[in-house]
Amino acid sequence: MEKDNFKSKLGIVAATAGSAVGLGNLWGFSYKAGTNGGGTFVILYLLAILFIGIPVMLTEFVIGREGRDGPVGSIEKITGSKKSPFVIAGYTGTISTFLILSFYSVIAGWSLHYLATTIVTGFSKFAAADADTAKFFADSATDLPINILFQGIFMALTVAVVMFGIQNGIERVSKIMMPILFVIIILLVMYSLTLSGFSEAVKFLFVPSELPEGKSLFSVAAAALGQAFFSLSLGMGAVITYARAVNDDININTITMQVAVCDTLIALLAGLAIFPIIFSTPGLEPAQSAGLAFIALPVAFGQMPGGYIIGNAFFLLLVIAALTSSISMLENTLTVILEKTKINRKVGTIALGIVTFLFGILSQLGLGFTSKILSFTKGDGFLDQLDKLTMIYLIPVGALILVLLVGYRMKPEVIRKQINNDKIANIFIPYIKYVAPILIGIVMVAGFLGI
Ligand code: PHE
Repeated sequence: MEKDNFKSKLGIVAATAGSAVGLGNLWGFSYKAGTNGGGTFVILYLLAILFIGIPVMLTEFVIGREGRDGPVGSIEKITGSKKSPFVIAGYTGTISTFLILSFYSVIAGWSLHYLATTIVTGFSKFAAADADTAKFFADSATDLPINILFQGIFMALTVAVVMFGIQNGIERVSKIMMPILFVIIILLVMYSLTLSGFSEAVKFLFVPSELPEGKSLFSVAAAALGQAFFSLSLGMGAVITYARAVNDDININTITMQVAVCDTLIALLAGLAIFPIIFSTPGLEPAQSAGLAFIALPVAFGQMPGGYIIGNAFFLLLVIAALTSSISMLENTLTVILEKTKINRKVGTIALGIVTFLFGILSQLGLGFTSKILSFTKGDGFLDQLDKLTMIYLIPVGALILVLLVGYRMKPEVIRKQINNDKIANIFIPYIKYVAPILIGIVMVAGFLGI
């Protein structure tokens, strides 16, 4: 594959943090915190980031920079064999990013559609509603062809960036988008600070809570770990794919920390922006499931002073965050195609973009717009099935295999060369061998069994 490395350290952090920060932070984190009771979920999520997420991310950096290829090629190079069972993780990763992007672009399309509509009309049509009647407004304002159109526009934007490769496409766009994203979210939190519901939101997010009915500590922990993996873009090779383009003189330990801190911070800030709005608006409650951002918040935006600016800023934030994540997913699946065929990057990107778009239509089909969101929350839509397949099975299995690869197949001197810091290597190597697989294994099995 062509050599197209990142130009600067800032570019690597922006692109990798861009991959990490996405709908998973802004939409997924808040609705999962909401439905898993708040504080307890958030604490387990932070533990999962610290004890599993960060080591796994460093693992992917080590694999990608050593292998200097996409997930499949890197693993083949490290194991010295195309037939090694470890290579499975390269393929499950590639399939995961394909499947996730297919429905991610649907949700990103909703965000883009909201933005395009509410910039013109404002949120007043939602104002008189409560969370239940809001779906009426959303239904009448939208329909399937329009949503497919916006999904297509979003995919086209993604393709337009990835087509130009790492340096001229992904790095350049991430360096512009990420600062904008930060500014918007800080402004939103500053606004939420002025609301009466702010302290209630802080309590909801950070004070350990009783588990919601029907959920065990295990199931909440499995949800928290799944969320941590998804949010940090782990277990799919997405980080391997960016790491292959990281120059040798870059310290991957600090990059890992910076990305993890950024991602966690944005998730928490998103919670601090969203929940005060929910708590300050009569009739809305946090356990709104997936409809939190698309049904509950617009009601609040319609009622509050300054709602036009805040609401549109929020949907712009969703679109930007989704875009830097979707380019990472497309790039991940694409590298495997480019490394296995002779197709050129531009043609490959466009073709893969079209196939992903067509497959994504399956997630749109069948139901109306909001009933789609509602069925997603009940767990019977196609979109939801894909989400479960990747979150519960493909991602944790992928992460486990990658950890075992570095722990048991890679030579310690190679790991040390990549980490280039004795103290960190002395902790990392035994940790990745003996501790990380057990932690991932336990939570993974809990997820499989649904306990
Ligand atoms: N981390 C992204 C999010 O939180 C999703 C993602 C997964 C991005 C896999 C790239 C690869 O939304």
